[in-house]
Amino acid sequence: MAFPEERARRLRRSASMRELVRETQLQPSDFMWPLFVMPGQDLREEVPSMPGVYRTSVDQAVADAREAFAVGVRSLILFGIPASKDSQGSSGWNAEGPVARAIRAIKDAVPEMLVATDVCMCEYTDHGHCGHIHTRRDGAPDVDNDASLELLAREALAHARAGADIVAPSDMMDGRVRAIRTALDAEGYSDVSILAYSAKYASAFYGPFRDAADSTPREGPSDRRTYQMDPANRREALREVRLDLEEGADMVMVKPALPYLDILREVRDAVDVPVAAYNVSGEYAMVKMAAKAGVIDGDRVMMELLTSIRRAGADLILTYHAVEAAKLLA
Ligand code: PBG
Repeated sequence: MAFPEERARRLRRSASMRELVRETQLQPSDFMWPLFVMPGQDLREEVPSMPGVYRTSVDQAVADAREAFAVGVRSLILFGIPASKDSQGSSGWNAEGPVARAIRAIKDAVPEMLVATDVCMCEYTDHGHCGHIHTRRDGAPDVDNDASLELLAREALAHARAGADIVAPSDMMDGRVRAIRTALDAEGYSDVSILAYSAKYASAFYGPFRDAADSTPREGPSDRRTYQMDPANRREALREVRLDLEEGADMVMVKPALPYLDILREVRDAVDVPVAAYNVSGEYAMVKMAAKAGVIDGDRVMMELLTSIRRAGADLILTYHAVEAAKLLA
């Protein structure tokens, strides 16, 4: 036999051969598409730091849901931009708020579309934190873990009552999954699943999202480092995942995705539930801005990044690219 004896290139000779031996597949049904909903009618505002992402009124969110369904996307996650914010985040459980209205309208228009909701206080509080603020014994302002659980449970329940299929707590309070599960079950919503943002890091990649949701901390602690995870930690991610599963999470998440693909692989290998990855706003913005500047081929980079997230172990990917990627896959 002629040297070299092993020729890996034989299996790369044609597109059909490459498809035959491809290890990782991407499908539109792997994606969960985040939508930002606000009060009003006929409104569609592009988020300046996220070209192609819009804050819309409920009627427009319904139109987006129809478009997404038509290209094979089967799940959405809703974020609310309320009419008003207060220290409690009380619009978070308003049955007439944009998220509750959007759930009802989307389930009505596209019943097979899975509707998930982000459960967190930072979009609804005037201070921009993910829970209730208090002063610690040492005098420092912080988010009060236990007092926040009740608010989160109330918000999750409001989403369940409106018809959400999945609630996704993103606050990182200890005990929130159990608090939410207990509240849902007590009202008969034992069929609503919990997708826990389990390994959620205190990341600079959330910057554009905070523009979109107007949720940058304004009072209290200056950042979210007392509740979101330190980017340097790996074992702690497995601990957070274990705790959320013990409390009753149906699915767990690693967030952000790209800088944490190692964590994603470890979590995938450690658990037997579906694992989600959140391809966050900053990851999206980098692709869009670099493509606009003519520095990269945006479509190819997008597909390569989404493939890498799947390959690292994500069963589902929350991504702002969902619809454009689904169209390319068709
Ligand atoms: C709410 C929440 C955030 C994101 C999802 N849910 C922001 C944050 O924690 O500051 C970020 C999503 C993104 O950047 O795309 N807590």
